[in-house]
Amino acid sequence: MSLLYKSTHLKGHLVRNRVVFPPMVCFNWSDNYGIVSKLHLEHYEKRSVGGVGMVIVEATAINPLGRLAPSQLGIWNEQQVDGLSRLADVINSNGAISLLQIHHAGDKTPKSVTEEPVAPSSYILSDGRKTKSLTKGEIKMIQLDFLEAALRAEKAGFHGIEIHGAHGYLINQFLSPTLNQRKDEYGGTFENRLRFIKEVMEMLTDQLPENFILGYRHGANTPDLDGGMEIAKALEKMGVDLLHVSAGIGEADAHPTVPAEFPYNWIVYMGSEVQKTVDIPVILVNGIRTPPEAEELINNNDGDFVAIGRGILVDSKWSVKGAESKTVNPCHRCRPRCYYIVDGRKCPQYTNA
Ligand SMILES: Cc1cc2nc3c(=O)[nH]c(=O)nc-3n(C[C@H](O)[C@H](O)[C@H](O)COP(=O)(O)O)c2cc1C
Repeated sequence: MSLLYKSTHLKGHLVRNRVVFPPMVCFNWSDNYGIVSKLHLEHYEKRSVGGVGMVIVEATAINPLGRLAPSQLGIWNEQQVDGLSRLADVINSNGAISLLQIHHAGDKTPKSVTEEPVAPSSYILSDGRKTKSLTKGEIKMIQLDFLEAALRAEKAGFHGIEIHGAHGYLINQFLSPTLNQRKDEYGGTFENRLRFIKEVMEMLTDQLPENFILGYRHGANTPDLDGGMEIAKALEKMGVDLLHVSAGIGEADAHPTVPAEFPYNWIVYMGSEVQKTVDIPVILVNGIRTPPEAEELINNNDGDFVAIGRGILVDSKWSVKGAESKTVNPCHRCRPRCYYIVDGRKCPQYTNA
């Protein structure tokens, strides 16, 4: 049997295989209170029944003023825990490990949420809004929002969380020497730019149970791949248990050159390079479509897990079909964007998935 379908352990939890369903927002399935709906429950139930080893539930807002959309799932108050608990239950009871991605959009918080998004520094955005540079007191409050979100996720029954540190969102903004222009202890040097996440990790490692998985989505080209590998090593030291390598805020020419013999894109390549520099498990992601591709990456030891996003949106049985060498449904790569950003029910494969 391919190594992709071989079980492993993570912080004492059995993970039945190396296939991960990564965080994929399902906008317009919740109300303005960010509560889990019937659509979410059915969606995640299907994907865990479909045989993945781990489900990382979509970006869930830790603070209503850091949401990506008014209908984003939320974890900033106790009323949201009941629905999240049902969500964890549908995933766990179908044999998958459940993580919840916790998120603050920072300067990417849209106008529909706030006129004044917060960020490490103050600057003008392309839509004319000006970001508010966080005071030290406000930094502390947002760090506590991350802690409270993790505590709620644990209370809801998730096996762990994934901190969203990629894709240009708040934590990624702190790590970026371009966007983080602070003159205090949260900006400037490498250590200072890492301070925001370091202080969050200190609270999490102190207050969450020993077997609670602390994952991190890493924008590994921040500010370039060498810098991203240094950050990865620092995250490991802070107590991160699992690194999910994706894109971040790169400087000019920050996409690494992929060697001709590596048949996947630069994001997967970054994951394979990060995997060589840390001892914690690494999830590879981006553009991996078929089970044989995922098998090749795991067999070559390029990563420890492989995440399949759009592939599993269009085929919830991707993992079981792969294990039986069956063909999976193709994703149409819709333009200008994937329908799940608008409403997943409009995805051309929604009913087949
Ligand atoms: C509709 C959609 C929603 C997404 N939502 C999230 C999210 O909530 N959090 C996150 O970190 N990445 C998100 N992503 C990025 C995916 O997790 C993944 O990295 C990306 O789709 C590339 O993987 P794929 O080629 O296997 O789809 C999203 C991508 C899409 C297309």
